[in-house]
Amino acid sequence: MNVYINETAMPTTTLAYHPATNRHVATRVDLVLIGARGQVGSAFRHRLAQQQAALKRDLGLDLVLLAGLDRRGFAFDLHGLSANRIESHLCAREHADLEHLLAHLIGPDSAPALLIDCSASEEITDLYPRLLAGGVGIVTANKRANARPLAFYRELQRLSQRYDAPYHYETTAGAAIPLLGPLRDLRQRGERVTSIRGVLSGSLSYILARVQDNDLAFSTAVIEAAALGYTEPDPSEDLCLRDVTRKLLGLAREAGFELEVGAIEVEPLQDDGHWPERIAAARLRGERWLVLAEADEHGGRIGLRSLPKDSSFAALRPGQNLVQVSTDLQREVPLSLAGPGAGPEITAAGVFSDVLAAARQLTRR
Ligand SMILES: NC(=O)c1ccc[n+]([C@@H]2O[C@H](COP(=O)([O-])OP(=O)(O)OC[C@H]3O[C@@H](n4cnc5c(N)ncnc54)[C@H](OP(=O)(O)O)[C@@H]3O)[C@@H](O)[C@H]2O)c1
Repeated sequence: MNVYINETAMPTTTLAYHPATNRHVATRVDLVLIGARGQVGSAFRHRLAQQQAALKRDLGLDLVLLAGLDRRGFAFDLHGLSANRIESHLCAREHADLEHLLAHLIGPDSAPALLIDCSASEEITDLYPRLLAGGVGIVTANKRANARPLAFYRELQRLSQRYDAPYHYETTAGAAIPLLGPLRDLRQRGERVTSIRGVLSGSLSYILARVQDNDLAFSTAVIEAAALGYTEPDPSEDLCLRDVTRKLLGLAREAGFELEVGAIEVEPLQDDGHWPERIAAARLRGERWLVLAEADEHGGRIGLRSLPKDSSFAALRPGQNLVQVSTDLQREVPLSLAGPGAGPEITAAGVFSDVLAAARQLTRR
């Protein structure tokens, strides 16, 4: 068991006066950050450090970084860790650390708490049902949970409702572009989504733009995208289209299409040395290559498509995403949502929005 720093009893609230809200008590919400030294996790910590005092002063929301961990390290402090300097708090992670932390979060005396998953780990998504059933909220950038079998996806939604435990995952498709929330709103207001079509991978959008616009070798563009933090921790997840498959599945389910992963046909992308010929042929036709993802209630398709240069998909800048949603009311002109589709800073900003929404829900309980 790691030695915890300053492990003494803490009140769950901190007294202060908040003129803006006319409240005297800042409500404490404990945060547990998974992937604390990863790219998204680090960008999130810096944003937290920057915003903590203002949120406490103006909104009466006391966001306390209770614990941070990755595969190698673990830190826990009931008084709160310094979000900017977590490296100095982390000790070598021991086998029992995670279990001890979960027992604390779910325990009767704990403050309202949120787990923030900035990993790409299945091991962490295995914990979600237990956390939600224990009333602990989850904010995740990790696409794996919602891309598991439909029964698991439904169970997470059920547990979140049943135990009033917020479950937010807006950054699992389109980074900080609001995509999942609008799809949910359409469904809840009774508007039937008929199809989704989009460029959903910021990393592939970046790689294909660099290959076509700057004549970069495909492999060089992949290295560049990884260096910018656009790819998955394992870039083969992007190139084999597994990452974009998870995003499409998550979007499709949020739109009400009850699909399993096997219902999505994937035409793998190849770095086969033929890119110069492919690009030259597309240029002659006045077209550009994109990885397009499409889904409707029957299934999905993902693969390379060559589209006219003046189409809105082909006009995207490197790293951008665009999703078009057709509904029974929006047929001629689909609802279009576009913006930066990858990058640690923008993703962390989206995670932060989810954390604020989830923390507000926890403080209303
Ligand atoms: N980067 C983007 O633009 C972007 C956009 C949208 C969504 N996302 C998602 O955000 C997540 C993080 O991406 P990233 O770019 O920040 O990746 P990253 O830099 O590789 O960071 C991943 C972090 O997760 C930790 N981790 C992995 N397995 C773990 C486990 N079992 N327990 C605890 N910690 C574990 C890693 O720890 P170690 O270092 O010890 O291995 C590392 O700190 C991914 O799910 C990704 O799909 C990223």
